[in-house]
This record gives sequence, structure tokens and C-alpha cells, in this order.
Amino acid sequence: MIKDKILKALNKQLNEELYSSYAYLAMSAHFSSQSLDGFAHWFRLQSQEEYGHAMKILDYINTRNGKVSLMKIDPPKTEWKKPQEVVQEAYDQEVFVSKSINDIVGLSLTEKDYATNNFMQWFVSEQVEEESEASKLLNRINLVGDNKNGLLLLDKELGMRATGN
Ligand code: FEO
Repeated sequence: MIKDKILKALNKQLNEELYSSYAYLAMSAHFSSQSLDGFAHWFRLQSQEEYGHAMKILDYINTRNGKVSLMKIDPPKTEWKKPQEVVQEAYDQEVFVSKSINDIVGLSLTEKDYATNNFMQWFVSEQVEEESEASKLLNRINLVGDNKNGLLLLDKELGMRATGN
């Protein structure tokens, strides 16, 4: 049986992953409205990936005979002035999620829930990758600056992303 403290933390994380999915969907829609279809595609896949993370947690809670509690998802931001701002917020979101994942790992150790600790290791590795991807994109879009040709070139490249990681 899963302890209440762990269950609460996992349900909170489930909500955060759904929020991430929602936030990336809003970013994707924003880029679509700007005709930056490559960025829109990249963020749509990112949104799907976050939904996948949420489902992984939901399935794990069920496997441990815990109760899944779906909470209200906060509405994400929908307006940005520059593409750089959007990517900066995506990066910040990943850093936030990493901290939240690490907190659950810490809690699983103090509560001696080694199954949850083991489960969360996948997320630890995933966050290293996600932070790295977001940071790389942030560096590149900052390099592009106000150069429209550079932006369109980056948009074309992002449009080639095949799947969520
Ligand atoms: Fe599932 Fe990128 O946090």
C-alpha cells in the first residue's frame, strides 16, 4: 500500500505534467497563429510527451492501488511578445519540473518507498534530457535574435522533429 504522503506528491506531479502539456499546447497554438509552423509542430510534440508523462504517473498510482486524484489544471499563458520569451518559459518550466521530481525522489527515500524511488529514476533521466533540449533551443533562438532569416531557418529545422522523445 502506498503511503498518503507519497500518493499526494504523485498526484501533484500528475497535475504538473498535465499543466506542462497544456502550457506547451498553448505555446504551439501561439506559434501556429504566427505562421511559425515548425515551432508549432515541435511544441505540439512536446505537449504530447508531457501528456505521456502524466499517464505514466497515473498508471503507476493505479498499479500501487492508490487513488488517482485529478485536480484542476491552471490555465496557461497564451500571449507572448517574442518567440524568445516562449522558449525561455519552456526552459523555466522544465527546471521547475526537475525540482519537483527531485523532491519526490527525496521524499521516497525518507519514506523508505523504494518502489517509488525506482519508478522516479526514469523521470530523473528524462528531465536531464528535457532541460538539455530546452536549453539548446533557448541558446539557439537567442543567437538568432531579431534575424528573420535565422528564425525561419530554425522554424524549418524544428518542423522536422519526428516524435516526442
Ligand atoms: Fe514531464 Fe518535461 O516534464
